[in-house]
Amino acid sequence: MPARPILIDCDPGVDDAVALLLAFAAPDALDIRAVTTVAGNVSAGLTARNACVIRALAGREDVPVFAGCTRPMVRAPIEAEHFHGESGLGALAFDAPARGPETEHAVNAIVRIVSEAVQPVTLVITGPCTNVALALLLAPGIADNIAEVVVMGGARSEGGNVTASAEYNIFADPHAAHVVLTMAPAVTVLGLDVTHQIRATAPRTAALAGLGGARAAAAANLLDFSSEVTRAWGQGEGAPLHDPATIAWLLAPHLFTARPARIAVEMSSPITLGHTAVDFHVTAAETGVRWVTDADAEGVFSLLNARMAP
Ligand code: RIB
Ligand code: CA
Repeated sequence: MPARPILIDCDPGVDDAVALLLAFAAPDALDIRAVTTVAGNVSAGLTARNACVIRALAGREDVPVFAGCTRPMVRAPIEAEHFHGESGLGALAFDAPARGPETEHAVNAIVRIVSEAVQPVTLVITGPCTNVALALLLAPGIADNIAEVVVMGGARSEGGNVTASAEYNIFADPHAAHVVLTMAPAVTVLGLDVTHQIRATAPRTAALAGLGGARAAAAANLLDFSSEVTRAWGQGEGAPLHDPATIAWLLAPHLFTARPARIAVEMSSPITLGHTAVDFHVTAAETGVRWVTDADAEGVFSLLNARMAP
């Protein structure tokens, strides 16, 4: 089967970095047309730099990186440096990348790449939805050449991770999430309900580190850092594999369960801003949105190990 054309929009960010390592390691299945970056976990300058660092580490200088929006559409920016470290890549040691981002803005790059694609492109969003939302508003017609938007974000039964009721990516730009959910033709959302099922426990990261090779070592380093923070915050054993779950969905959808949903985003309440109201009283014929409810965590880590192995 030919590789699926995708574009990854991200805010690396420790787990974004692992998602990129996984995607970069699957050229047989994923034809990565570009990586676009957005302000989120850390500043826009750092997320762009970090995407270039991971690209170099993965040996994928063939994939262009485009820096994007430096702030959300409406609300004030909120970063997550406390979780991702000052660099945004946790405790990972790295050299400055030889190749930086292109000069074209990410929003313009998304419009151009999707418009020019011969077959529909899958967009993966693992940070705030700002870039993709603006691309859809700038050129609504690109929706006709989008196969699917896969978003890491939101929470239903799990509750929030940045407030009582909101997950970070949606909280960081709720208006952008609303635009994507209402303008994209097909959206698959992996929220905390499923990512909290996929935990980077110590045995799992030890197995990853034991594979040998630079990318497995980097993935284990990044996940160990996240797990330390997760543990320190009393949020359980092992960092949730938030962003890598979007790539695992594309590589092995059989490892997941998804169901049709209507998802509304709270955009004004000071208490529940960014909350995702996920309603299952809808059929697949009535909505283009799916909410992922379950994952085979062991299967996801087997997939990650197989792709990270030297
Ligand atoms: O809530 C988890 C999400 O917020 C992940 O994308 C993580 O990178 C942070 O951006
Ligand atoms: Ca992210």
